[in-house]
Amino acid sequence: TIGLFDSGMGGLTVAREVRRQMPCANIEYYGDNGRVPYAPLSRETIERYSRQIVDFLATKQVDLVIIACNTATAAALSALSGSYPFPLVGVIQPGAEAALAASKNRRIGVVATQFTTDNRAYAKAIEKVDQGAVVISQACPMFTTLVEADKVDSPESAHYAEEYLSAFKGQDIDTLVLGCTHYPIMIDHIKRNIAPEVAIVDPAVETVRRAKAL
Ligand code: DGL
Repeated sequence: TIGLFDSGMGGLTVAREVRRQMPCANIEYYGDNGRVPYAPLSRETIERYSRQIVDFLATKQVDLVIIACNTATAAALSALSGSYPFPLVGVIQPGAEAALAASKNRRIGVVATQFTTDNRAYAKAIEKVDQGAVVISQACPMFTTLVEADKVDSPESAHYAEEYLSAFKGQDIDTLVLGCTHYPIMIDHIKRNIAPEVAIVDPAVETVRRAKAL
């Protein structure tokens, strides 16, 4: 039984990857739709919410919990690690390592929430493995709101995608990390605004690979 949680529906993109790689696993998914988005909250509040949810998942006989939220991983993974009798897996370190494996020129773009970019969560995780890599991060604060409001196919989504992704023009990135679990749902808008040769990394793939190994 794999427990997963996110501030809302974004973590379902990670649950989908669990289904793909571990078709026989039971899934316990907690989407905190009542308190989404997490990104504007303080680290302390996100940590408190994350602990409440993992305590709840612990009552569901989970064998492992994936923090299927980059913001909660950045805010709470290190504080919560070791507090439970099962492993906790975050999405950022696996995503960072998958990005380094995909990149040839070591210039990596990251789209994520304002909390994740302000805390340099991906930059730190990438630098931990490769100090020479260059990380260019862009926050996309409206993406989560648009996904939660079921407005993916809307002119607003197209507008914000164009605005946010323009940050990578002329930056020569060869890899782009989807550093928020809501963003794979915006993939068509993202692809329309990024050069076709840029490799797009969804951290869910490497995260679930590690969860499966554990
Ligand atoms: N889906 C979450 C993430 O991966 C965050 C969205 C939010 O701000 O709540 O970062």
